[in-house]
Formats: sequence, structure tokens, C-alpha cells
Amino acid sequence: MPTYKNGRAVIDTDGNIMHCHGAGLLEYGGFYYLFGEDRRDRRRVSCYRSKDLVNWEFRNICLTLDSETKRHYVRTDLRLAPKNSGPMTPEEAAAISLQPIGHRGANIERPKVLYCEATGKFVMWMHFENGRDYNAARCAVAVCDTVDGDYVYMGSFNPVGNMSRDCTLFKDDDGTAYFISSARDNADMIVYRLSEDYLTVAEQVKTLWPGQFREAPVVFKEKGKYYMLTSQCTGWAPNQGGWAVAGAMDGRWSSIKPFGNETTFNTQPTAAVKVGGTWVYIGDRWDPSDYLNSTMVYLPIDLENGCAVDWADEVTIEDGRISVSAGDIEDFRIMLPGCSEYLSGDGFNVFTRRLGYADKNLLWLMEEKDGSVLLRHKESGKYLSGDGILTELKDDDRLLWELGDGAEGKLLINRHSGKSMAVFGRRVILADSDDKHFGGFTFVKNY
Ligand code: GAL
Repeated sequence: MPTYKNGRAVIDTDGNIMHCHGAGLLEYGGFYYLFGEDRRDRRRVSCYRSKDLVNWEFRNICLTLDSETKRHYVRTDLRLAPKNSGPMTPEEAAAISLQPIGHRGANIERPKVLYCEATGKFVMWMHFENGRDYNAARCAVAVCDTVDGDYVYMGSFNPVGNMSRDCTLFKDDDGTAYFISSARDNADMIVYRLSEDYLTVAEQVKTLWPGQFREAPVVFKEKGKYYMLTSQCTGWAPNQGGWAVAGAMDGRWSSIKPFGNETTFNTQPTAAVKVGGTWVYIGDRWDPSDYLNSTMVYLPIDLENGCAVDWADEVTIEDGRISVSAGDIEDFRIMLPGCSEYLSGDGFNVFTRRLGYADKNLLWLMEEKDGSVLLRHKESGKYLSGDGILTELKDDDRLLWELGDGAEGKLLINRHSGKSMAVFGRRVILADSDDKHFGGFTFVKNY
């Protein structure tokens, strides 16, 4: 059964890790084509295709720093790789937030592709930055005669003079295409209607939610209504996603209501696809410590219940139907009562930390032993001991815990002392059950 494991690396049909981030999805010729960021070396936009959204076949690097360029009637800047482009020094790479060491030249984000019936061409829109900072804030256009061929780069520009960062494309049933992007340093979300050949902006039709700082737009249409998913602006860190609805692209859009949880399950919107009768949210799970480890998540959207999206470990797509299931994710985070702190470890000490999704030190595993449980710190492989430290596994009942019911969560009762784990300041201590410093812990699955 074609099953997609959310948030895990995807291995393509050639056996390689798939690199396709901030992706856009195009249905064409019986395939789903995915175009996304591939930041390795001089690559920029990769393309994969699939019949089931699970098995992905690598097709091409459609845009590189060496792609052919061609000017068109918008006053564009054709430079993808400026003259001084060469490998970055480690210092230069470090100065550009979270970029892997690579080559200078354009930074291309969130590529999206539409097929233009009027011209028979495939048109890619994307976010362009100069590769050194985020000040260019331009969109760029590339075009190709075939869906997954080598795209010709037509240059970058500021649409109607606006800044343009996170972006998406949407094609309406009548072929009218829209480009939607964050403007005014992300304060506004602007909707542009494209020219008939999709190569430039015909008109700025809407400025949405001025001053509300939205990015990562995704638009889809269902039963005559237009839906837009967006995120807040917190860089690579996840935040609560929002959705809005309108009767027309240039009509009145609703205010933004939340979907998913407070981190959108550690994702940021990038695309949506309809499977059978169900719209599926596709989000990037960025890894801020290593961009190339970023993965993708599919979650069905319940439109009957206000764009409700719940977490699912696995998504199975079969005969045009989508179903969700619990997978084999075993690791979890241990949340402290009444605050957004989590239990962490550094290989020896145990202390508390704010939630950081890429922070592997927050992950724990549970093992059963002699009718009790062992709590294993995933990163170090060591076990939580009643001394409040991490140790190697040994035959010692200080490593054994019993789970009890506390006022706010699960009590962790140490078998050796009979005392319960509590947190005092940022340290772990053992306390008597009636001690005011503890109320139980919540075990939160690592989605
Ligand atoms: C995010 C944005 C990404 C990328 C990143 C860079 O907010 O959605 O596409 O631009 O910031 O920090």
C-alpha cells in the first residue's frame, strides 16, 4: 500500500533522498509533478513526479545557476549567478542564515509551476533573493516547453514595484492565473492577476490583511469557494497556521482563523492537493540546523469543520482515497505542567528547555522493564536516573519509574525512593508526592 510517513526523509525511486522543499504541485498528464528547492551546489529547482504522491521519481533539475536566460517584456534582472559567484567561504555561508555551504548566486525559494493553455508552455514563478541577504524581495519567472525540461530563466523583478517574498500560484477553472506573495516586508499579502501568457502581472487585484504579516501562502478552490492557507512570519521556526475563505479571488476575504495546532504540527504551508474528495495540506517541516534534512508532511483537511487539520503519523493513498494511521513513531517529548518547558538532557545532566522542534535533546523513548518503565534519552542513548542525571543502563532500581496520575499529567514515581520526579527551577529533583513543585508531566508524541 502506498503509505507516506510524515516528516521522514523520502527516498526517490532511484534510491536517493528527495530534495524538493517549499514545493509546488502540478497535476499534468496523469502525474503529480512536484517542483521544489534543491539548494545543493548550483542546483536550484528540482522536479519529481508520482502517480500516488508516495513513490516519487526524480525527473530533472529544472533550474540551476547556469540555466539559459532570456529577457522578456518586464524590466527584469537576468542575473542568476553574478560574476563573483564561486564557492562561499564558511564565514560567508555562516553570515547567510541557515544556508548550507554552497555556491553564491541566486537563492530561489518556493517555485510553483502552472501550465498555460493559451501558449502551451509551463511557467514557473518563484521567490528570488541574491544569495547573500533577503533584501532583494523579488519574484522571478522561468518558462519551458515541457513540464520537466530545462526551464529558461526570464529574470527577477518587483511586481508592480512591490516587494515579493513567500509566494504561490493559483489557476482558476477558467484559466485565469494568480500570483500571490508577501509584500511590504511581509506585512501584506498581495494577489496579482497574471497576463494571459502567465509571464507577467496584469493587475494587482487585492491587498490582503495589511499589517498582519503572513507568509507561505497556498490557495485552492472547493465548491466555488477560494481557500488560502498561510503562516505567520517566524523564519524557519514553526508557528500556528491560519486559513481564510473568499467567494472570489478579488472578492472579500474572511479574517484569518487558525488551523492545526500552535506549530501547525511543526510545519509551514507549501501546497495543497485534492485526493478523491479530500483536500490534503502539504507542509514543509524545516530543519533549521540542517536545511537539507527538511522533510514534508501530508495531512487531510476537513473543510466541513473549518479547515480542521489533525496530526497523523502516516497517510495512505490508494485508489484515489486517502486514509490516515498511527505509525511507528515512538519518541516523545516530556512537557512540564503549566509551562511550555520540556525535559532535556545533554548526555549527563537533565534540565528543562523551551520547545525547539529541531532540538533532538528533547526526545525520549520509553522501555518496559520488570513491570516499570525506563526513560531513555534518545540523543545520548542514556537513561534517566532518580539522581536527576542520565546514566548508562545498569541493574539499578533508580532507573525504574512507575507512572501515576497527577493533577496535571503523569507522575513519574521512582522505584528506588518512592518519590516523584519534579522540576525546581531548571533542575530535576525528587519530591514527596504532596510537594507543591510538581503536578505531573505530559508525554507529547514527536510529530
Ligand atoms: C520562512 C519562509 C521560507 C524562507 C525562510 C528563510 O519564513 O517561509 O520560505 O524564506 O523564511 O528564513
